[in-house]
Amino acid sequence: MRTIAHISDLHFGAHEPAVVAHLHAALVAIRPDLIVVSGDLTQRAHRSQFAEAAGFLARLEADGFMLLVVPGNHDVPMHKPMARLFWPLRRYGRIIARGRSCWYADQEIAVLGLASAHGLTVKDGRLTRIQIRSIADSFAGAPAGASRILVTHHPLVSLPGDEPGEIEPALRGARRALKAVEAADVHLVLAGHHHLHSVGIGAPDRGPTVSIDPHVMIVQAGTATSFRRRGTPNSFNLIRLDGTGATIEEWISNGGAFSSRESGSSSYVRSAGGNGGWVAATPSA
Ligand SMILES: [Fe+2]
Ligand SMILES: [Fe+2]
Repeated sequence: MRTIAHISDLHFGAHEPAVVAHLHAALVAIRPDLIVVSGDLTQRAHRSQFAEAAGFLARLEADGFMLLVVPGNHDVPMHKPMARLFWPLRRYGRIIARGRSCWYADQEIAVLGLASAHGLTVKDGRLTRIQIRSIADSFAGAPAGASRILVTHHPLVSLPGDEPGEIEPALRGARRALKAVEAADVHLVLAGHHHLHSVGIGAPDRGPTVSIDPHVMIVQAGTATSFRRRGTPNSFNLIRLDGTGATIEEWISNGGAFSSRESGSSSYVRSAGGNGGWVAATPSA
């Protein structure tokens, strides 16, 4: 069995310091095998904000945790047009990415992180053709039987916006990327950006609004530590993977210690083959 803590949208610079401390305490108590950080580590990509984010990550590593981190659109400098265009992720690369890998694999899980943030727009994400090709190349080297997981900041699916009928688009290249995900037999896609927790399989009623191959589970994380919460508590996902089973649990904080949401967790099992895919193992409590 493996446990992954999926934390996202920390937004240092627009964060709740007390919640950061509670997040650290929760992770130390849970002791996940891997911590995935799906982008927006800072609010405005300022050096001081990266330093705070780097300090937080370093404390986790000092506690013995494995980390896999990808950047978000807020980690690209907003008000420096030259930097945005020509070296959008330079500061992120120097302060956060250096010395850290975007690939993690052991006998039970194989995890690939791809940077969907770029400098051409303020908010939207994209995956290039080269990045999409790397999905097949990377997972070809995954141990047989391992759960395959892709991490981006921007979702690969469109999601409901704040207004009725409003849709927030998927990242550019999503259609091609989803095909690559399906071809590489990727089981879970983890993302953030939306600041709302959701789990989507096939064509679920909330969350993803496009039809997705039921072999692929789309897991969105809320914002772990930012005050930009969209009316929900700060949260992160605790993902337990055991063979072909997965349990997704949302842990929430209303300013105090994180705890598993009272409505319980969602468990799923997957079966192989053309008609297989993820199905709920137990109804949500
Ligand atoms: Fe964000
Ligand atoms: Fe974002």
